[in-house]
Amino acid sequence: MTYIDTHTHIYGEEFDADRAEVIARAREAGAEALLLPATDWQSTQKIMALCQDYAGYCYPMIGLHPEDIPAEPEAELTAMEQLLETQAAPFVAVGEVGIDLYWDASRRDEQVEVFRRQIGWAVRYDLPLVIHSRKAHRLLCDTLRPAAKELRRGGVFHCFSGSAEEARELLRFEGFYLGIGGVLTFKNCKLPATLAAGVPLERLVVETDAPYLTPVPYRGQRNEPAYVPYVIARLAEVYETTPEEVGRVTTENARRLFGI
Ligand code: NI
Repeated sequence: MTYIDTHTHIYGEEFDADRAEVIARAREAGAEALLLPATDWQSTQKIMALCQDYAGYCYPMIGLHPEDIPAEPEAELTAMEQLLETQAAPFVAVGEVGIDLYWDASRRDEQVEVFRRQIGWAVRYDLPLVIHSRKAHRLLCDTLRPAAKELRRGGVFHCFSGSAEEARELLRFEGFYLGIGGVLTFKNCKLPATLAAGVPLERLVVETDAPYLTPVPYRGQRNEPAYVPYVIARLAEVYETTPEEVGRVTTENARRLFGI
């Protein structure tokens, strides 16, 4: 079985001691490629260096995460814009960007403003958009909708865990996919039923969000790309098909979306 981990933070310090082994285990497990979402300017630089070391296997994104917006974000945003202006080519997406009102809703307007600006990058540089959204479904849809037609490359609603109605509303955005990770394997999770109720496999990509959201049976430990097969096995049950078929379809989806 082969797959693409479309969202993994293996550039983080959690992997400093054994990053090469983590990547070797990913290859061994069937990962054809790893996509690395940025969270700020510093991570963007780390990601670019790592993706040079693993060219053709690790692919970089660029973006400012809603929870990592500094008090004065202008310098970071300008640095990212200059990088895109001079070399948009290595980036496979703008991400991860969006709105997160889970811990702190006090900077809601600022989050929306920064998100809008980065939606503009996806439009201008013709890149997919990888979206992080928590406790912000309505606001997210309202912010994204005016730009929907211009976002020709589509994107991912990363770590989707909403209702069937929310899934339907998100999938009305053309060219967008739901990102499914370890949460799917958690006990009492409603996501399997939500997916079975009306989300076609053709609109899904798989991801880890490593080091977070580790699937059962490793829940609670550090996540890594080699654990995606546990998510795929659960998806195969949900869609009453084989893990090979889930791997094949989600890999095709990821290749089409990110152009790799
Ligand atoms: Ni993430």
